[in-house]
Amino acid sequence: MTWNVTNNELTEEQLLVNESLFSLGNGFLGVRGNVEEGYGPDMTSIRGTYINAYHDETEIEYGEKLYAFPETQQKLVNIIDSQTVTIDIDGERFSMFSGKILGLERVLHMDRGIQERRVHWRSPKGKEVKLTFRRLVSFTRKELFAQEITIDPSTPAEVHVAASVNGNVSNFVDPNDPRVASGHAERLHVTAQEAGEVLHVTNQTYETKLNVHCASCSLLEGAEADKEVIEEEGKLTETYSFQADGPVVLTRWNAYTDTYRHENRLKEKAEEVLAGRPAFSLLEKEQKEYLDHFWMQANLKVGGDESLQQGIHFNLYHLLQSAGRDAVSNIPAKGLSGEGYEGHYFWDTEIYMFPVFLMTQPEIAKQLLKYRHSLLDAARARAKEVGHSQGALFPWRTITGGECSAYFPAGTAQYHISADISYSFIQYYLVTGDEDFLRDYMLEVLTETSRLWMDMGHEKNGMFRLDDVTGPDEYTCIVNNNYYTNVMAKHSLRWAVKAWQKLPEGDRRVWAEKLDLKESEMKQWEKAAKNMYLPYSNELGIQAQDDTFLNKKVWDLENTPKEKFPLLLHYHPLTLYRYQVCKQADTVLGHFLLEDEADEETMRRSYDYYEKVTTHDSSLSYCVFSMMAARLGRGDKAYRYFIETARLDIDNTHKNTKDGLHLANMGGTWLALVFGFAGMRVKEKGLVFRPVLPKEWDTLSFRIQYQGRLLEVTLNRKEAVYQLLEGKTLHFTHRNESVTVTASRPVKLAI
Ligand code: BGC
Repeated sequence: MTWNVTNNELTEEQLLVNESLFSLGNGFLGVRGNVEEGYGPDMTSIRGTYINAYHDETEIEYGEKLYAFPETQQKLVNIIDSQTVTIDIDGERFSMFSGKILGLERVLHMDRGIQERRVHWRSPKGKEVKLTFRRLVSFTRKELFAQEITIDPSTPAEVHVAASVNGNVSNFVDPNDPRVASGHAERLHVTAQEAGEVLHVTNQTYETKLNVHCASCSLLEGAEADKEVIEEEGKLTETYSFQADGPVVLTRWNAYTDTYRHENRLKEKAEEVLAGRPAFSLLEKEQKEYLDHFWMQANLKVGGDESLQQGIHFNLYHLLQSAGRDAVSNIPAKGLSGEGYEGHYFWDTEIYMFPVFLMTQPEIAKQLLKYRHSLLDAARARAKEVGHSQGALFPWRTITGGECSAYFPAGTAQYHISADISYSFIQYYLVTGDEDFLRDYMLEVLTETSRLWMDMGHEKNGMFRLDDVTGPDEYTCIVNNNYYTNVMAKHSLRWAVKAWQKLPEGDRRVWAEKLDLKESEMKQWEKAAKNMYLPYSNELGIQAQDDTFLNKKVWDLENTPKEKFPLLLHYHPLTLYRYQVCKQADTVLGHFLLEDEADEETMRRSYDYYEKVTTHDSSLSYCVFSMMAARLGRGDKAYRYFIETARLDIDNTHKNTKDGLHLANMGGTWLALVFGFAGMRVKEKGLVFRPVLPKEWDTLSFRIQYQGRLLEVTLNRKEAVYQLLEGKTLHFTHRNESVTVTASRPVKLAI
């Protein structure tokens, strides 16, 4: 049961949620879990197919537009639909909303990479048929979405099947929810179509002029059929009419290509993907092999709680489905499962998802960083535009590098994204020890972000200050000296100096010239880091979220009616800004990422203080509170917060899973297990573990990759067992003890 997700509810609300839960993807292509034949009359559905980073641009309309506000916004585009297949049995159209459903089972197989729907249907006139719909988005043939439909009437029947490729598509809009797009539904149009053995439809976006192509073909087995192709404007349909005396199977292959990845070979490449019409069973075998390998490396096992284990599998599986693996793409906040947040990439990647890949799939992690590195020119241009004389300012939300946030207080002002990106480069270096990467990518990112901090910050009374920024907590905007931002910038500045120092002399000269580095710059970075102001309240003994946060009135959370949450949908931003109320972890996150910057007691008091004023209206919050609770020895709390993360989407606890899955929270589940309960930290001196096992579980085990090694960690009631599965002897720290593990013998230590 832990490898499957099943949901058979047929309410409109749950069907929408299921579209996200049952979505399939491979980092390039994403297909929502819509049902092939469509829904009942007047039912809402977000029918969607997406290619990561394939987008259009729309103008941002402002009532008042001030200097350097972004003029355009990018938007992930819903592309050509190839999901649709209608089935008529003796003249009656199959639908789950007519006649009677005698049996229904809908399953996502996370160990096999397929989605399956079995329906036993009785038509309004009483004809019975069993239908099985299976589909997959191939992990190994990235352009391919394949379907297999088995039609098995209880008595011989005249059947008519119509499988279409439809280029007349548009995006979903919801004018009342800022987390979903509010306009610009139609973003692309059909530019070519061709019907033959293979159906071809090409679309182009209106503004970005990016092409997307879908080539589709099918095969019917088990009956002699009359095949026809119907051509309509923008839509091509293959139909099969036949007499079914037993099970008949339709296999469909749909290949997608786009301008970014396939340049001018869209049609040719799509045809290549269809060549040989690989049997569905072969594609299934490939999926299984791919996933066996992935789960061998990345699985996390919790002994003693099946529903939790299911949530863990689900979250990891969707992370794998969503991560871009090429130079132009990253991980959208909703993955490839929906249109929420318009397919944009945020800091969610670096802080919540990247670490999962870093520790289990370092090749994907590297690709994610290379993507960010490729945005440097855009980030330099943005820094200039905003008024900086130097440096790189990364966009708050983007696809190709342009700032896409129209609301700067909770967008551009979140300068911390530039420090978050640097942080992930540093983590990558610490985990892989990759010197070439340090030289070719990390150095430039750290140099340019350091230049930004030097330009936007200033020294006063011996302290380096960063004014007018917004930290992670979006209920407190445009403040001076946000602790999180300052401490992350400090870390980034210190590491910029280190990165240069680590370069061999020759490389250093070459790169100093390339990046126009002046000797004096490094001295300034060092000084700014040393003097970085980290606001602290003597009265409370905690790090202050910023210069004014603690002077504000405290929001009365206890007496705020339940239906007023999330607060952002019920209160004007200014109201929220005037109170001590946090949408999500802010200072507490700073403590988690950089625990050596504050002493234990300060972190403890900060935790207690901020916990009382945090709503967790953002799904990015729970895992941080869980990890820090574990760090501070509060197992019960760690467990309670953790539970909120693991099944957030499966149980739709945030009530907006229909718009897409909460990918950062999904990463947070892994983080909470590994960084939280196992207490792992990646430090310059090596790995550190401080394990605590919640009393609810018997065991927790996982694998990580670290500097060419594969390490398995298992916690049980009494001890932690460290076993080196691949690679050289490893030295690490367990609590305060230095430990060495060799390939020949696991190490067992009390917890
Ligand atoms: C959160 C941000 C996050 C964004 C995308 C917002 O609700 O407050 O921190 O980056 O969602 O997930």
